[in-house]
Amino acid sequence: MNQTELIVALDFPNDTTAWNLVQTLKNYPVIYKVGLELYLSAGSAFVKKLKENKNRAFLDLKFYDIPNTVAKAAQQVALLKADMFTAHLSGGEKMFGAIKEELKHLPAPIPKTLGVSVLTSFDEREWNTQTIALSGSASSISESVIRLIEKADLWGVDGVVCSAHELIHIRKKYPNLYLVIPGIRPEGSVTHDQARIMTPKQASQEGANAIVIGRPITQTHDPAKITEQVLRDIGQ
Ligand code: C5P
Repeated sequence: MNQTELIVALDFPNDTTAWNLVQTLKNYPVIYKVGLELYLSAGSAFVKKLKENKNRAFLDLKFYDIPNTVAKAAQQVALLKADMFTAHLSGGEKMFGAIKEELKHLPAPIPKTLGVSVLTSFDEREWNTQTIALSGSASSISESVIRLIEKADLWGVDGVVCSAHELIHIRKKYPNLYLVIPGIRPEGSVTHDQARIMTPKQASQEGANAIVIGRPITQTHDPAKITEQVLRDIGQ
């Protein structure tokens, strides 16, 4: 079986609660995802603390700005020694080119750049309205996702975040992209607001390089137990 990494989403409002979970999981080989909420409350100091304590860190701030601004932000990600970060593929070829150019001058290891295609919170109707606003004609979500990921591959982006729904198709077409899959639910756990879910085992079998799990781990009485079970399911 393909070996898949487990990314735990630290969706917490402050350093203390997030760090408690990191302490609880300190014996497990997981990657911690820091998103906007935790970054805005605990800052880059939290990422530094993660790295100083020999953890892997994924900075999920979904950059989208002019190429120079995003390239300089990517440089800061690298200086923090984060292992991966996200940027919107709709930022375009020049934005990703600038990131690549900036990172190539830095000493290894450089962070993986992951592209975000269409946010999974969009439904078809809203995406139609959005694409009409952008281009004058409507596109379906899957068309847009497929086209954007095709570009990601062309531009030499390291990987993409994609939904479980698209995983099998994208894996087949792009064997070298690092695929990160959110919306994962261990068997028997609550679905929350995730519309299209998949189990860790299924995602691993379909070729996910990493799966993202938040609430089923962060909001349970025994996070270590669930983590252990998931790691077993994904061949870690
Ligand atoms: O709690 P849950 O497992 O649903 O959390 C999933 C994490 O993955 C959250 O941090 C969420 O922002 C993120 N995510 C997602 N869907 C995407 C991209 C990221 O749920 N398409």
